[in-house]
Amino acid sequence: MTDFLKTSDHSLATLSGLIDKALEIKSGAVSGKPLDGKSVALVFFNPSLRTRASMQIGVYDLGGNPVILEPGSTSWSLEHREGVVMDGDKTEHLKEFVRVLERYVSAIGVRTFAELKDWNVEQADPILNAFAEYASVPVINLESAMHHPCQAMADMMTIRERFGTEKKKVLLTWAWHPKPLPMAVPNSFALASAQFGHDLRIAHPEGYDLDDELIKEIQQYAGGSVEFTNDVDAAFDGVDVVYAKSWGGRSFYGNGAADVAHRAQFRNDWIVDEKKMAATNEGIFMHCLPVRRNVIVTDGVIDSANSVVIDEAENRLHVQKAIMAEVIK
Ligand code: CP
Repeated sequence: MTDFLKTSDHSLATLSGLIDKALEIKSGAVSGKPLDGKSVALVFFNPSLRTRASMQIGVYDLGGNPVILEPGSTSWSLEHREGVVMDGDKTEHLKEFVRVLERYVSAIGVRTFAELKDWNVEQADPILNAFAEYASVPVINLESAMHHPCQAMADMMTIRERFGTEKKKVLLTWAWHPKPLPMAVPNSFALASAQFGHDLRIAHPEGYDLDDELIKEIQQYAGGSVEFTNDVDAAFDGVDVVYAKSWGGRSFYGNGAADVAHRAQFRNDWIVDEKKMAATNEGIFMHCLPVRRNVIVTDGVIDSANSVVIDEAENRLHVQKAIMAEVIK
């Protein structure tokens, strides 16, 4: 393994092995300092609580030194496009940024959200892929325009903790949010669920289809079934796992106001509440966090015994340690 950019770059055996390792780390059965004497750059273009804290602590726990950089804030603003005349507001090119940084560090983690401006550009995950192209050290995706693989691995670990290796009925449901959000989390959750062989149901209103290429990939990996529905009430019937996330409609990229206007009609129906959870098979509630209470999910659901959102967040730490120990040599 050289980079960790998306789960589908790796086999199910590899991903399962990483979760086995993460569970061992969590139990205290394995320790050690595989990053002893190594520095790891953590590059954050966007805000974070969980990813930043868990990566910083994870590198430290493994014996390494985390170096946090925030382009445009605590480090120079970055241009990533090839061949541009840099006479605008960007100070440094990613080529120099990466090539300098890798003289100092053994790996680079990068967080770079979609800007929701141009679907055709952002679908190609250009900033993450520029890092991977220019770097000769391993690159770990800490959430890009299209993928959040460390989150998906923590999610799969959390499902494993609750249900063992049994295949479960998993619902990924869109939820109303006042503004359009990136698709990385739903993409990676759906992809990893398919890779791990769960029966996957994806529910969203019209206008919020996931990426066509990603859907093809999900269908190719699916060990279980994959179904799609626009019926939010029927979607919850009999599922074991409810994963809520809001995302922006790809046809609205570049026109956020149109997305906000379109989604207004879904505000009351697309919230995870006690009534919907009652239709599940005593399902667990999952969300990557941060979450808007009583917008995405009611207090009653997120505070219930079936909510595993804090476990998901904790598992980020353990699974990222397993990933770093594997990737950084
Ligand atoms: N889930 C997640 O990535 O959280 P942060 O945005 O706080 O890192």
